[in-house]
Amino acid sequence: MSQPIIEVEAVEYVYPGGDAETPALAGIDLTIAQGEYLAVIGPNGSGKTTLLKHFNALLIPTAGRVLVDGYPTAVEENLPLIRTCCGMIFQNPDNQLVATTVAEDVAFGLENMALAPAEIRRRVAESLRTLSLEHLADHPPHLLSGGEKQRVAIAGILAMRPRCLLMDEPTAMLDPVARVEVLDTVRQLHREQGITVIHVTHFPEEAARARRVLVMDRGKVVRDGPPQAVLTDLEMLHSLGLQGPVAAELAFALREDGFNPPPGIIHGRELVEFLCSSGPKH
Ligand SMILES: Nc1ncnc2c1ncn2[C@@H]1O[C@H](COP(=O)(O)OP(=O)(O)O)[C@@H](O)[C@H]1O
Ligand SMILES: [Mg+2]
Repeated sequence: MSQPIIEVEAVEYVYPGGDAETPALAGIDLTIAQGEYLAVIGPNGSGKTTLLKHFNALLIPTAGRVLVDGYPTAVEENLPLIRTCCGMIFQNPDNQLVATTVAEDVAFGLENMALAPAEIRRRVAESLRTLSLEHLADHPPHLLSGGEKQRVAIAGILAMRPRCLLMDEPTAMLDPVARVEVLDTVRQLHREQGITVIHVTHFPEEAARARRVLVMDRGKVVRDGPPQAVLTDLEMLHSLGLQGPVAAELAFALREDGFNPPPGIIHGRELVEFLCSSGPKH
């Protein structure tokens, strides 16, 4: 396993004024390696957002500690380094765009990094190119589509050269075409630049594309494993009010009807392969 980028040690978190009996995070131990693609799923209120906010020191543990690239998030001096290392994308792109043009928006985070203006321009151009947004550089962000807005938000984070992208349900407000557009972009960044991705999602199909899936419930991590194992444990998912990927649900139903699809089916094409190999040939 490569270097850890995030280490979570016995973390508990109680919101100010919250009930210590039911902490938002109730004892979490977790190591995330550099270059992983991790999905986090769980029912509403299970602590996904709270956990993610600990990874760029938006929240500091009530007990235990979080290390980003070896630096404890509780130490104030580490904040600039941690925020540069782990950039966060939120659900609603409208709340993340602040400037009057796309290019200015992408530059916004860089302005606080004490970079030379020429370097800022270079990075903005590079980020816009990576996300195929060059043609929109002078457009006002509020006139863009949801998918484009979310890509602008990602471009702004990317310009800061983070090693880890934290995404909190980044596609929840997007239509299906824009969802694919945003996720393909993120996958490409992961593949080509080795960026660590931590992706909170309520779409099982999105979790199925990760290498590792965490399931949260009531402030705890209740499962942690490869998607082929976690997302086919439908009994566990259903007991939490969650669903598996459609292919996993169908494979389960087929098994109940006496068919015998192989274990670990989470993608549609795997189910199609099984059905085509067992059905009549035309
Ligand atoms: N700002 C807040 N103040 C007080 N309690 C909060 C706040 N944000 C979340 N919580 C509580 O913390 C728990 C975990 O919430 P959250 O991390 O948002 O869950 P999820 O992202 O999985 O839906 C919930 O019980 C929620 O009500
Ligand atoms: Mg949330």
